[in-house]
Amino acid sequence: MSTPGEDVPAGPGSATTPDGPPTRTAGGSSVPVIELRGVTKAYGDTPVLRGVDLAVHEHRAVVLIGASGSGKSTLLRCADLLEEIDDGDVLVDGEVITEPGVRPLATRRRLGMVFQAFNLFPHLTVLENVTLSPVRVHGVTKAEARDRGRELLARFGLAGREDEYPDRLSGGQQQRVAIVRAIATRPRALLLDEITSALDPLLVGEVLEVVRELKREGMTMVITTHEMQFAREVADEVCFLHEGRIVERGPASAVLGAPQQDETRRFLARLLDARQG
Ligand SMILES: Nc1ncnc2c1ncn2[C@@H]1O[C@H](COP(=O)(O)OP(=O)(O)O)[C@@H](O)[C@H]1O
Ligand SMILES: [Mg+2]
Repeated sequence: MSTPGEDVPAGPGSATTPDGPPTRTAGGSSVPVIELRGVTKAYGDTPVLRGVDLAVHEHRAVVLIGASGSGKSTLLRCADLLEEIDDGDVLVDGEVITEPGVRPLATRRRLGMVFQAFNLFPHLTVLENVTLSPVRVHGVTKAEARDRGRELLARFGLAGREDEYPDRLSGGQQQRVAIVRAIATRPRALLLDEITSALDPLLVGEVLEVVRELKREGMTMVITTHEMQFAREVADEVCFLHEGRIVERGPASAVLGAPQQDETRRFLARLLDARQG
């Protein structure tokens, strides 16, 4: 099977302004970059996702919130094909990617993922971490990958760090390298899984600033975070996940400011308590 998504202009800076309407349309309605339809997933007998529907349109940022164990990471991992789903579909640019027979590598390279624990290769330098996938998986020439890698690193405050090994960098710098690594492949969308949770509080800001910048550039993103102030800033939509279901969704001002569901209220109250306690 061919991979029609590959001819799509990659990521930010393509056909429209960040606030403009999505470019790709089918039958008059826009095609989401990422879509989950009725996705279910269990580990053994434990249901973790119980029918999740989610559509993320181009240039939009969707923030997933929910208690630990509610299924946020599993949802992102299923979208990135790191986990197999039990039922439902995941689509990228309108193409079902969860059919048997879809090649995971060719498909996964259309999305970029960043993890809580950075997951940089410790035996590779910063620049090697950033150029590995473009060269090995995307067929970019080494010279081209290095040029783009250097440019991205400089843009996110990491000029001069290209030849260091990850353990020489602060957690905030490592996570910025991980983000650069994820966007170096020009993904259609980024999946960011609690990317500031493992950081010293003093280093959270510099990483969130990178995400703000990507949002300004129009990057399509699905973000899990416990940083509610940040969610208010960047989210076009906030989804509250409870026991494997999205039980409330809407603009941040509504979901965070005037939640309608008891579960959402309880979750936000607990977060507030934790902060004040
Ligand atoms: N690989 C796994 N094997 C078994 N259970 C898992 C696995 N990964 C996650 N779970 C379980 O799935 C549920 C959801 O986990 P997760 O998606 O990590 O939630 P969140 O990211 O919202 O904290 C939890 O109960 C967790 O223990
Ligand atoms: Mg998680």
